[in-house]
Amino acid sequence: MRAVICRAWGGPESLTLEDAPAPTPGPGEVLIGVKAAAVNYADTILIEGRYQTRPAFPFAPGLEAAGVVLECGAEVRRFRPGDRVMALLDHGGFAEQATAREAETFAIPAGMDFETAGGFAIAYLSSHVAIRWQAKLEPGETMLVLGSSGGVGLTAVEIGKALGATVIAGASSAEKLAIAESRGADRLVNYVAESLKERVMALTEGRGVEVCYDPVGGELFDAALSSLGWGGRILLIGFVGGIQQIPANRLLVKHRAALGSSLRYFRQRAPDKLSRSADELIAWYGAGKLRPLVSKRFPLSAVPAAMAELLQRRATGRVIIVVA
Ligand SMILES: NC(=O)c1ccc[n+]([C@@H]2O[C@H](COP(=O)([O-])OP(=O)(O)OC[C@H]3O[C@@H](n4cnc5c(N)ncnc54)[C@H](OP(=O)(O)O)[C@@H]3O)[C@@H](O)[C@H]2O)c1
Repeated sequence: MRAVICRAWGGPESLTLEDAPAPTPGPGEVLIGVKAAAVNYADTILIEGRYQTRPAFPFAPGLEAAGVVLECGAEVRRFRPGDRVMALLDHGGFAEQATAREAETFAIPAGMDFETAGGFAIAYLSSHVAIRWQAKLEPGETMLVLGSSGGVGLTAVEIGKALGATVIAGASSAEKLAIAESRGADRLVNYVAESLKERVMALTEGRGVEVCYDPVGGELFDAALSSLGWGGRILLIGFVGGIQQIPANRLLVKHRAALGSSLRYFRQRAPDKLSRSADELIAWYGAGKLRPLVSKRFPLSAVPAAMAELLQRRATGRVIIVVA
């Protein structure tokens, strides 16, 4: 099979498209004939050797995929060959075939195409588990979403609305804010052109927000923390802007909480919550509450160019690798 291979830690340009042996499904695993896979920011860190896991060389990156079940390993109960599925992977999605654990494989709902499905699982599940189980967002609360047109950020906007919150979307340009608005954001803030804290305080009549969803971090974190009201919760989702230090006194004085949320935790330690999140997201999709955005498509031969979209801050919604 054709696969995009990483043979040494480095940038996207070091990846090569090669013929590679097809994986075989172990017990409890399915083999997927991959149709589409999304590029996640984490892929760019994975190939540099800076991610939470460091696969043995050679390996194919690609942390999720959608396609058709080709084969089921022993003990697989819910799927059979021919089923349309999307799955969370350890890696290996940028290839014609990939294996996935049954518990992290989900049936593609009716009406969802493979490209949409290839970019559904990580972005929506990461945001849902964070907002639902970690921040425990309540209807009527206000949530500020940073990087709100990006892969995970845009899903946080939609999930906030589906849970009955008021959503303030933050992004770096008018074009990106228009995308967040198209997915339901109530209020908008361009955090490059204006002060995030001042604008959020103006929008909330000086109260601040109850929840901030932050996949950006770095220099923006200070203003994000200041935008929280009394008892506010800030979700630490990612650090595309750099890893910040958190001044503990500023949590205490306003009774605030900084909450790390890792999809990996739910995959490994709370599979029941992961599965309930998947059920709710698929139900919302069926009810028309979610409108996943696939903004760009690249062939398997152009994975480096697709990764550059994210690294150069141009990506919106999902950037998809069309495999077959
Ligand atoms: N905790 C979890 O479970 C979990 C799960 C999935 C992803 N993540 C993390 O979430 C983060 C975002 O991932 P993603 O796949 O959604 O990426 P993405 O699509 O590239 O979105 C990142 C967003 O961050 C903003 N940004 C600010 N500074 C940036 C910079 N220097 N370079 C690139 N973007 C910048 C951009 O919006 P503006 O230009 O509008 O600022 C962009 O839309 C990553 O750190 C990823 O590892 C965490």
